Amino acid sequence: MKYLLLATNNLNKVKEMQSFFKDYDITLLSLKDVNIISNPEENGTSFKENAFIKARDVALKTTYPVLSDDSGLMIHALNGFPGIYSSRFMLGKSYQEKCEAILEMMKAQEDKSASFICNLCLMNVKDEPLYFEGRHDGKIVPLDGKGGFGYDPIFYSNEKKMTFAKLPMEEKNLISHRGRALKSLITYLENNKFLGKKR
Ligand code: IMP
Repeated sequence: MKYLLLATNNLNKVKEMQSFFKDYDITLLSLKDVNIISNPEENGTSFKENAFIKARDVALKTTYPVLSDDSGLMIHALNGFPGIYSSRFMLGKSYQEKCEAILEMMKAQEDKSASFICNLCLMNVKDEPLYFEGRHDGKIVPLDGKGGFGYDPIFYSNEKKMTFAKLPMEEKNLISHRGRALKSLITYLENNKFLGKKR
């Protein structure tokens, strides 16, 4: 596999994914690189379905292998909320406000546990779409830290014993839900000889 087309309009995601593949003999393309416009309605009921919707929309317009991702924060006491609504929750408001609203909802909850989940969907490689999941477990805590993005300041990593907003970006990327999903994708591609290291 020489090329992988990323089905996202988010250039930060493109950069993050490029850093994961930097030692491999593959070129990651953005939608802009190939002049494809893709903004499908994400009306799936799970991360996996939404990842599929994003990948399929692009896969129908190209023969390149296509990779999409969908991710979010699942708070167990809130039945998985905000989940697939992580970016659409309180649309137009800042993440500071969204985090504060979540903290308000969590006041009454004893169980603070939460997980970040990421699902990747790979198409145009096999007849069927292929899926890879990554997860990072933690708990909801008062705002702490200035780094990262989204819900990072209220997500305390059980493993790192600090919020994602306090972790240096490179460190977070290695162990985050997205990082783990990407690692499992890379392992699959290597094991199936779709991907090799640069010489
Ligand atoms: P999407 O995967 O681009 O559809 O958006 C997922 C949404 O989930 C983001 O807009 C954030 O609200 C949230 N999210 C996903 N990953 C992270 C993360 O690593 N830190 C903080 N928030 C995240």
